[in-house]
Amino acid sequence: MKNLKASEIRQKFIDFFKEHDHMVEPSAPLIPIDDDSLLWINSGVATLKKYFDGREIPRKPRIVNSQKAIRTNDIENVGFTARHHTFFEMLGNFSIGDYFKKEAIEFAWEFLTSDKWMGMEPERLYVTIHPEDTEAYRLWNEDIGLEESRIIRIEGNFWDIGEGPSGPNTEIFYDRGEDYGQDDPAEEMYPGGENERYLEVWNLVFSEFNHNKDHTYTPLPNQNIDTGMGLERMASISQDVRTNYETDLFMPIIHEVESISGKKYLTQDDYDVAFKVIADHIRTISFAIADGALPANEGRGYVLRRLLRRAVRFSQSLDIHEPFMYRLVDIVADIMEPYYPNVKEKADFIKRVVKSEEQRFHETLEEGMSILNNLIAKAKGKTNEISGEDAFKLYDTYGFPVELTEEMAAQEDLSVDMAGFETEMSKQRERARQARQSSESMQVQSEVLKNITTDSTFVGYDVMDKVTNITDIIANGERVEEAEAGDTIYFILAETPFYAVSGGQVADQGTISNENFEIQVTEVIKAPNGQNLHTGEVQFGTVKSGAEVSASVNHKERRAIQKNHSATHLLHAALKEVLGDHVNQAGSLVAPDRMRFDFSHFGPMKKEEIEQVERRVNEEIWNSIEVSIQEMPIDEAKEMGAMALFGEKYGDIVRVVNMAPFSIELCGGIHVSNTAEIGLFKIVSESGTGAGVRRIEALTGQAAFLYLEDIQSQFNTIKGQVKAKSDDQVVNKVTQLIDEEKSLNKRVDQLNKEITSLKMGDITEQVEDINGFKVLATEVEVPNPKAIRETMDDFKSKLQDTIIILVSNVDGKVSLIATVPKSLTDQVKAGDIIKEMAPVVGGKGGGRPDMAQGGGSEPENITESLRFIKNYIKSL
Ligand code: ALA
Repeated sequence: MKNLKASEIRQKFIDFFKEHDHMVEPSAPLIPIDDDSLLWINSGVATLKKYFDGREIPRKPRIVNSQKAIRTNDIENVGFTARHHTFFEMLGNFSIGDYFKKEAIEFAWEFLTSDKWMGMEPERLYVTIHPEDTEAYRLWNEDIGLEESRIIRIEGNFWDIGEGPSGPNTEIFYDRGEDYGQDDPAEEMYPGGENERYLEVWNLVFSEFNHNKDHTYTPLPNQNIDTGMGLERMASISQDVRTNYETDLFMPIIHEVESISGKKYLTQDDYDVAFKVIADHIRTISFAIADGALPANEGRGYVLRRLLRRAVRFSQSLDIHEPFMYRLVDIVADIMEPYYPNVKEKADFIKRVVKSEEQRFHETLEEGMSILNNLIAKAKGKTNEISGEDAFKLYDTYGFPVELTEEMAAQEDLSVDMAGFETEMSKQRERARQARQSSESMQVQSEVLKNITTDSTFVGYDVMDKVTNITDIIANGERVEEAEAGDTIYFILAETPFYAVSGGQVADQGTISNENFEIQVTEVIKAPNGQNLHTGEVQFGTVKSGAEVSASVNHKERRAIQKNHSATHLLHAALKEVLGDHVNQAGSLVAPDRMRFDFSHFGPMKKEEIEQVERRVNEEIWNSIEVSIQEMPIDEAKEMGAMALFGEKYGDIVRVVNMAPFSIELCGGIHVSNTAEIGLFKIVSESGTGAGVRRIEALTGQAAFLYLEDIQSQFNTIKGQVKAKSDDQVVNKVTQLIDEEKSLNKRVDQLNKEITSLKMGDITEQVEDINGFKVLATEVEVPNPKAIRETMDDFKSKLQDTIIILVSNVDGKVSLIATVPKSLTDQVKAGDIIKEMAPVVGGKGGGRPDMAQGGGSEPENITESLRFIKNYIKSL
């Protein structure tokens, strides 16, 4: 067997089949194209289904590929075994109605055993076949010459993973020898059993059936070959290492985690789990993001979020407590570059996504963990279950994917009430639905509206005032001929300057009047047949259907709306320019007093990015761009480079709002005629609204000025308070104050410490001799839970050879801390002390052998806990 790098194995595989007249199919993206049966590409054949079921004829019937794949069916196993992965590569050769069993078996044997290729020792190879596949038996036995004892019949040898090609298969195993276990059928120590000695290296599927959507099977148009060889395990065999993780595909990642954490791989079991989880998950995350997925609350995005959070959770056992996964992306990119350059190309983007997702989780991680640990402690031995409500709260407030909660609960032999969790989820969905509905609900019975077919033209693009006729009036849900002062009515005008709410732009307000009456318009929406339907209250007089009226929108508000609307277009373009092309509009509000713009982006914008975007919009205002608006066929608009909203349906003729060269967008709204009219643009907030969506709120024109004026006046107040003589002194003065406060706080801490030590008296007198150890175990008074650490450091410096265990009670919250001199940690471990002691005060904790911390909620048991722990040390 040759010792080969993973990239060499990949290349050899492809070269071998190229020599046998196969065409090389590049690795397809992980996100399936035109295939809604799969969340992810999960095997080599998944991307070739179209050839297998006959929808498309390949250029050549022989294909070879190395396909990246994601499988998420047993995420919770990853890390605990030698070979479970969420991301892996599958090498495969395929025949579409060309060769079948004979050649497939012969190719496989040659590739594995020939010295030119893998050079495996034939006597180490075994195969399994389907019991009824006599042809496969004959081929292995007679053609290849494998003796009967090395051909094992297994019922399960039928490859079928749901919709798609399926058929009987034969698997090839490599015997790694007795180092990996003695032959013993009871221990599943045989090819095909669950063991580490006989490793499956290749699966050859004789694909003959299609597994249909309705779970029936029909013969495929051809007899095909579909094979799969896991690159990671082949590498582990070739490189003669125990698990896939010790191959060159993973070790550089693990080394980087070692250097970040200061912990060593293969020294401690719980470390190894964490190393493996992290190394596996960062590959999946990097590749998935490179292929266009982003963390989110559902679907593929949820898988990514879950994996990332799982890895971060495990990183805690390596004592990593800050974002670090993003630092591994470059390593993944380097390892995989030879065959998958797109990870390297997108590395900067991937890092930003990962980092911001890590930051988001870290913000709530500790709080969530301690809540979950409490829930676990409470449930243990009692209900043995985490309630659905609690699991939901962890999900909703602390970002714990419910699967993560389940996994952590399972480690303590607890379950999670998933039905209860689902109930909470659907309650939340219902609340969201209701919120949507009430804002969109239409007050008038739509039957009445459906019957109104009068023509109505919108003239508001050109004018704000129009003399026209009222054509239809509706009051109390019915069509009426007249309405009186005080009535709220719905009505239609033959021509109207009032804009109906749409595309984020709010409706115009204004008045409809003649010498006999006046209506105040409060809302305008589109009626079922497309007319603008006005809502308003009759202020005085009697309104008659057919009356001639002047319709007048509020000029000042309309002008403010126009400014805000044009500003959203500039903002959209500026965001793309500053943040990147992934930015897409996800919703907006254009009102007279403000604008709001939602867009896809993976994390909070940096202060500098916000400033840059704001500046770019203002620059385009100063540039005084003429705004030209034209209707044209959609193809023409696209050719001009007009931005359309993703997923939005447009008619054949579209309206193009052109602020070239900066912004060209399809839009039905009302705009300024020159960007200079916007006057001033000011961002007032940037926030997140949900998974991957950010929101900017901004002001233009007068509102922007008033906002800045207010800030200026607040600044002036501060200037007075800090007694600055000039504007540029203010920052210095404030910095000075902050520094002073810091040093005062330090002084207070110091004094507190002195008070504590005065109260404690001479601590050396409290040191006891227990079981030959010097032990100081005592309760201390501290001003806040964090201060126990400082007291400990203080004691430690005085008592270097003593095991110190301190307990404190601050407002009913118990804190525990223990330290053991390094020279004694092989006999007593601080982590064990805290683990033993914390339950006595109703809590949990743990840590390193020389230093550990914990907490609890039962201060009444502090004395008991100290007695308990002294006995524990005595019993060692
Ligand atoms: N499609 C087969 C597998 O995934 C080769 O094992």
